[in-house]
Amino acid sequence: MKELKTERLILKGLSLDNLSDFFDYCKNPKIGPMAGWKPHDSMEESEKILKSMITSNEVWGLYHKKDSRLIGTIGLHKRSSRNKKELGYVLREEYWGQGITPEACKAVIKYAFEEEKLHKIEIFHFPFNTQSKRVIEKMGFIFEGIRREDIKRFDGKYLDSFGYSMLKSEYEKKERNDDNAKT
Ligand SMILES: CC(C)(COP(=O)(O)OP(=O)(O)OC[C@H]1O[C@@H](n2cnc3c(N)ncnc32)[C@H](O)[C@@H]1OP(=O)(O)O)[C@@H](O)C(=O)NCCC(=O)NCCS
Repeated sequence: MKELKTERLILKGLSLDNLSDFFDYCKNPKIGPMAGWKPHDSMEESEKILKSMITSNEVWGLYHKKDSRLIGTIGLHKRSSRNKKELGYVLREEYWGQGITPEACKAVIKYAFEEEKLHKIEIFHFPFNTQSKRVIEKMGFIFEGIRREDIKRFDGKYLDSFGYSMLKSEYEKKERNDDNAKT
């Protein structure tokens, strides 16, 4: 994973050295179900999942600069088409509401369009996930529609997913507008 830096964060590849921090937030019942997965029950379960994330090479760890601890992840996942990827994120609860995820998203979106040369980034949230919805809105993603009973969650519930996307042209336009606003 290419290392990316923001004001408060370092985004870099995960390592098994991060296992205890990873388990610490993945066992929180307020986190996984919002993103579709079961809270982790054991360090062994977290280790298996952490290893698969490392192997996937699609997920950055979010490390806070103040103490270098792992406080979440952000992923850019390959999907059916070669020209688009899906963004996903998770953040340790103690850090919610400080704009950390938007800060990480900004760096990953820039990387995705400018270095990976993607044409489109997609993102989804469940109907009840207003926290993620706010991040998506703040990043300027465009609502595409609702996929009905799209995902079977770990607890057997079929959930609608609300889909959004950003095109490279939209990203470039926003960058130009931001530059103009600065001058
Ligand atoms: C979604 C998530 C990554 C957002 O990260 P974040 O860094 O807190 O994002 P922001 O700081 O921009 O806050 C987003 C919204 O969360 C809400 N929020 C803030 N603090 C909160 C708290 N302590 N508890 C509940 N919601 C809170 C606010 O509505 C905020 O929107 P606002 O900026 O309009 O006030 C985080 O809530 C999380 O990890 N959730 C569980 C996993 C998940 O849902 N992943 C995404 C799956 S699609």
